[in-house]
Amino acid sequence: MTDSFECSDASLTEGEITELVTAIKASSGFTDYTVDELREYNENNKVIGLRSSGEICGIATYEFIDEEWAEITTMIVLPKHQGKGFGKKLWRKVVEKLSSRNIFAVAFNPITKNSLALKTGFQKKRFWQLPFVVQIFFVFQRFRLHKIIGFFSKKHLKLEELDFFIRRRIQCK
Ligand SMILES: CC(C)(COP(=O)(O)OP(=O)(O)OC[C@H]1O[C@@H](n2cnc3c(N)ncnc32)[C@H](O)[C@@H]1OP(=O)(O)O)[C@@H](O)C(=O)NCCC(=O)NCCS
Repeated sequence: MTDSFECSDASLTEGEITELVTAIKASSGFTDYTVDELREYNENNKVIGLRSSGEICGIATYEFIDEEWAEITTMIVLPKHQGKGFGKKLWRKVVEKLSSRNIFAVAFNPITKNSLALKTGFQKKRFWQLPFVVQIFFVFQRFRLHKIIGFFSKKHLKLEELDFFIRRRIQCK
């Protein structure tokens, strides 16, 4: 049976934020994540939510690095809704939303890497192959102290499993 669903920019409620952050913290795909972090994306309208019959099932968040580059910063489908194709729909929606820019994403989860990024035109890169502006953004903006501490407190996360992906926008001539 296929769930009816809707992807939209509609704001998250406080209850949805709490539910999502609890799932993010329990997930192996993230270092650390705070309620304030998701509130900030929400207040800045940088969240795409997927709802089924009005119930939140997952989100993707993004950030603009500069005029040319954007980053997909969060991707989560709540555990009870995983495996139904929602992750794929959310990913494609956020890629479409950011398609006028080059897109950067960091991933630990093999599903994100192999079934989402590599199937939608992203290329895997080493850190030193990333554009300088993306490297600087990653080091100073995204990889903050609580994430470094979070990384070392999650024993199952291995640095060698962290991959960087970029997708260049399609240039119209
Ligand atoms: C990663 C995540 C967003 C995927 O969302 P999802 O709704 O479960 O994924 P979908 O049902 O849309 O499936 C997407 C693809 O992954 C495959 N897939 C889904 N679950 C899988 C599993 N357990 N094992 C292997 N492949 C799987 C699907 O077959 C599909 O592949 P296809 O394109 O070849 O058809 C979701 O699992 C999640 O939120 N995980 C926890 C948080 C996380 O790790 N986020 C990413 C941080 S890098």
